[in-house]
Amino acid sequence: MKGLILSGGRGTRLRPLTYTAAKQLVPVANKPIIYYVVENLASAGIRDIGVIISPETGGDVKKALGRGERWGVRFEYILQQEPLGLAHAVKVARGYLGDSPFVMYLGDNLIGCGIRDFVEKLDETRSDAVILLKPVPNPSSFGVAEIDGKGRILRLVEKPKDPPSNLALVGVYVFRPSIHDAIDEIRPSARGELEITDAIQRLIERGGRVHSHIVEEWWLDTGKKDDLLVANTVVLDDLIKRRIEGEVDENSTVTGRVELEKGVKVINSVLRGPIAVGEGTVIEDSFVGPFTSIGSSVRIEGSAIEHCVILDGAVISHVERLEDSIVGRNARVHRNRERHKALRLMIGDDSDVEL
Ligand code: DAU
Repeated sequence: MKGLILSGGRGTRLRPLTYTAAKQLVPVANKPIIYYVVENLASAGIRDIGVIISPETGGDVKKALGRGERWGVRFEYILQQEPLGLAHAVKVARGYLGDSPFVMYLGDNLIGCGIRDFVEKLDETRSDAVILLKPVPNPSSFGVAEIDGKGRILRLVEKPKDPPSNLALVGVYVFRPSIHDAIDEIRPSARGELEITDAIQRLIERGGRVHSHIVEEWWLDTGKKDDLLVANTVVLDDLIKRRIEGEVDENSTVTGRVELEKGVKVINSVLRGPIAVGEGTVIEDSFVGPFTSIGSSVRIEGSAIEHCVILDGAVISHVERLEDSIVGRNARVHRNRERHKALRLMIGDDSDVEL
């Protein structure tokens, strides 16, 4: 069994963060999303993993993942010149995949459970594909499955205006090589992409057997700002333990599940977990509330923040209250203390400022 991580695409919905980094490298609880993907594949015993990369962000993805030793896996990088769809990515990887069955894992999807059981279902149920489904309130944003009373798949449709059910396709799929023939038979969709959803539908029409499983645990597609904040909240809640390696002075209180990496300094501040704080960050005269991730070498002074994702090198200074916000690398948010009424902004393309 091989793995195939899809880490190409354009990431337009997470702009401006994705102007400077691949969306799969945006951190959740201070760890790039794609690391969770690799960990999940590795713990299912998958050692050979192809990684689909794009010309724009492939270099960064390679740098972040390396050759795979730290997870005990071997990566092979596969360049997809243009993001022409998930099934197109499989086509590009065909030489690498050969006749092996494989797990295709979308590099921006996070799930709150291991995948070993689903992988085993391929042989157990003698299926051509195993797909995962999850009920969602907004099925039109996803691939959607129509199933009969016995859980058998009747039909799959990509982002339907009129969804036949609320069961979304989760971005983890287990395939036998028969999927390649189905991919050869599909045409680009209305949005100009070769859809994996259409290929699985084609597989069913060709008489292939597709087994589905409903995921009970959480599943997050981290593609948009609010999704990213939700993902951060869920992962902090689920995975963070108390671990204090940084320094906390006697005028500060740190309560609950808080992770302070080496070199962190907390001075005259209150921290209430769950919170993750990266190396070398300084928090002074501030309050940091639950569900906040703060990257490395960040400076927070005279501010109160809660339910935020603050990336490496950012500065938050004298901001009375910052909530539900994402602050990009090396960005500065600071109050001009002389001229209280006027706002002065230097905002990059596609930023979103709510005042
Ligand atoms: O998240 C689950 C959903 O993922 C499924 O319900 C949908 O059926 C499926 O089509 C997909 O929809 P998205 O619109 O969310 O896919 P997105 O374009 O965001 O791409 C998913 C990942 O695959 C992302 O990490 C980028 C990568 N990708 C995407 C394309 C289109 C590639 O590597 N190559 C590509 O050509």
